Amino acid sequence: MKPIIFDVDTGIDDALAMSYALNSPELELLGFTTCFGNVSVAEATRNTLAVLEKVGKRIPVYPGAEQTFIRGEKEGWSKHVHGEDGLGNTLKKDPISQPESQFAPEFIIEQVKNRPHEITIIAVGPLTNLALAIKIAPEIIPLVKEVVIMGGAVKVPGNVNAYAEANIIADPEAAEYVFSSGLQVTLVGLDVTMQTLLPKSTLNEWRATGKETAHFFADMTEFYIGYYESYYPGIGGCALHDPLAVGVAIDSSFVSAESMNVKVATEGEEAGRTVGHLAGEPRIRVCTEVEAERFLKHFLNRVV
Ligand code: BDR
Ligand code: CA
Repeated sequence: MKPIIFDVDTGIDDALAMSYALNSPELELLGFTTCFGNVSVAEATRNTLAVLEKVGKRIPVYPGAEQTFIRGEKEGWSKHVHGEDGLGNTLKKDPISQPESQFAPEFIIEQVKNRPHEITIIAVGPLTNLALAIKIAPEIIPLVKEVVIMGGAVKVPGNVNAYAEANIIADPEAAEYVFSSGLQVTLVGLDVTMQTLLPKSTLNEWRATGKETAHFFADMTEFYIGYYESYYPGIGGCALHDPLAVGVAIDSSFVSAESMNVKVATEGEEAGRTVGHLAGEPRIRVCTEVEAERFLKHFLNRVV
């Protein structure tokens, strides 16, 4: 089993990715760390606990950054994409379980030091917790086995504007800090995630199972697909951004990647843009192709 720290800003596709990971025997989930992003960090923490309760698993949740790495900005949630509650307005009551008191970056540092060269970090929100962890304890950089990041748009347009993808533009300085740190990064960006489409017909298949969790995921995903249809008319489903990062952590043969370096624009109109280049030793594996159908089947067999 691969030991995993899973960094989320739970959101609808984060919730789907969580369930996929929780039902994957290849992964040993050490803890979830939460970040602001789709919603505030308090809401992301609540949503993470709520999803764990729905799926019926107990894994510790560590609250992390409530604002950006350098600028200390707080606003910028994506409630139009993920709903007022971040879960497509499906959350009927608060979870019973409570988060841990340890700060997410401290948890990351402690775990990596306890298990050097073993831990994979899957990060599917802004990269603030990871940037803070390696700023506080740069000695962990060579001790992290791999970081699989959902973020960026290297060869394709962004999804917030023509240049930027949501997780990167939410905290460009954190992303630049992580990409230039020497961490072993695999970047699962829009280059590949926009090729993975969950068709709308899946929702009825989930509901037909009669399972409560399947209904919960169908209802929230319906909200997400509604947003996708308004932004990309005729698309007929939604992209599986965060779930693909989990898929790649389980089985990297779902994607093929090119090694390069990635610079993040932090200023001006192109802020949040991820620019691939070949100067210096190429350190980042940028995923550029995906076996979308094989991945989708794998995901559907496990998620609900
Ligand atoms: C990413 O942004 C968020 O809205 C999603 O949860 C995903 O992590 C896609 O650009
Ligand atoms: Ca996310």
